[in-house]
Amino acid sequence: QTGHTALDYGFVNTASTKSAITYIDGDQGILRYRGYPIEQLAKHSSYLEVAWLLLYGELPTADQLGEWDEKIRRHTLLHEDLKHFFSALPHTAHPMSVLSAATAALSTYYEGQSDPGNPEHVELNTIRMLAKLPVIAAYAHKKSIGQAFLYPDNSLSFVDNFLKLNFGNHAEPYEINPVMSRALERLLILHEDHEQNASTSTVRLVGSTGANQFSSISAGINALYGPLHGGANEAVLDMLARIRDSGESVQRFVERVKNKEDGVKLMGFGHRVYKNYDPRAKLVKESADEVLRELGVEDPLLALANELEEIALNDDYFKERRLYPNVDFYTGVIYKAMGFPTRMFTPLFAIGRLPGWLAHWREMQYDPQTKIGRPQQLYVGAGERDYPTEA
Ligand code: SDX
Repeated sequence: QTGHTALDYGFVNTASTKSAITYIDGDQGILRYRGYPIEQLAKHSSYLEVAWLLLYGELPTADQLGEWDEKIRRHTLLHEDLKHFFSALPHTAHPMSVLSAATAALSTYYEGQSDPGNPEHVELNTIRMLAKLPVIAAYAHKKSIGQAFLYPDNSLSFVDNFLKLNFGNHAEPYEINPVMSRALERLLILHEDHEQNASTSTVRLVGSTGANQFSSISAGINALYGPLHGGANEAVLDMLARIRDSGESVQRFVERVKNKEDGVKLMGFGHRVYKNYDPRAKLVKESADEVLRELGVEDPLLALANELEEIALNDDYFKERRLYPNVDFYTGVIYKAMGFPTRMFTPLFAIGRLPGWLAHWREMQYDPQTKIGRPQQLYVGAGERDYPTEA
């Protein structure tokens, strides 16, 4: 209230966390995982190879990656009892709620094998999380559409197994679509890490108390669920559909955003760090046209998104505030073209982000300097005063 900032009271603006995993330059729109530019990784690498890079700091050899991939395949099965967990939930349950609850529930199957101080437990539970989260997400999807769960097919790649779990069924063979497979691999890579975003900071904070990987990741999933964070990819599609269905012009919608009418925001725009075009959004936009064309999908929402971007990027309100498309602006149109319902968009973000969460949890866990997280505050409340007693 006094118009002063914390700095006036001697608070030093020190970075709260040291990390060697991801580098972002928000002004230049630069993103690198362990020094490798995101553009190169998205083009040449794979989800599991990038996951290894984030976790261990170097690209794996072909043998290391092959062995790791094999181990992960061997952990895709969920305990049969866990299936009953899904039947306890309404089919209307949001998949993100299912994902966080089922992830927390996973730890109950591994009590006695989840000691953060035991490197074998940490390695094994890293593999279990990478293997099982996609299966849980696919089951949440199947649950929401009333279809039977499939067992994982470990003859398939990580991404193809996930696609089959979501879109296959018991009545007919599932044919892998290589366009979908490659597009999803790239999208997952683009989401794998993003330094100290809200959900990753949550994972680190929860992990700093000694909580195991399952509990820490479950907390991260809950943080990602918010519409200002990972939930924005779902909110973008809802926003585009509302504009389309309302018949409101894009210009009129943008005016409402600028006037902050009913708190409406241009979802998928703006970022805490990027004050330039999010490099991931650029890559997603570039591939959106190609993926929809190759999937043979015509979606007017893509043209609507392009029109929204065009208007916003040329409008002073957005330019003055350095608001650009972020990673969530175009991803939903591609997920929709693949056949995912909008409520599955944020679970897809969670699967993408899982390696980053696990890498940050591990970095925090193995840093001897780590102390329990305790964010500072600047007290601006009432000074000391006495409780009113009878005079
Ligand atoms: C992700 O941190 C990460 O790295 C996150 C992420 C990751 O990979 O983990 O990149 C993923 O979460 C991307 C962000 C997804 N969220 C959205 O798309 C939701 C819409 N965006 C906004 O809610 C907002 O831009 C935030 C939350 C993303 C960032 O908020 P900031 O940086 O705190 O922005 P701000 O609130 O300080 O805004 C500055 C001004 C304000 O206007 P004034 O008060 O100065 O008049 O810009 C306005 C805001 O009202 N503004 C917007 C806007 N975002 C900011 N106005 C309209 N639409 C928007 N989207």
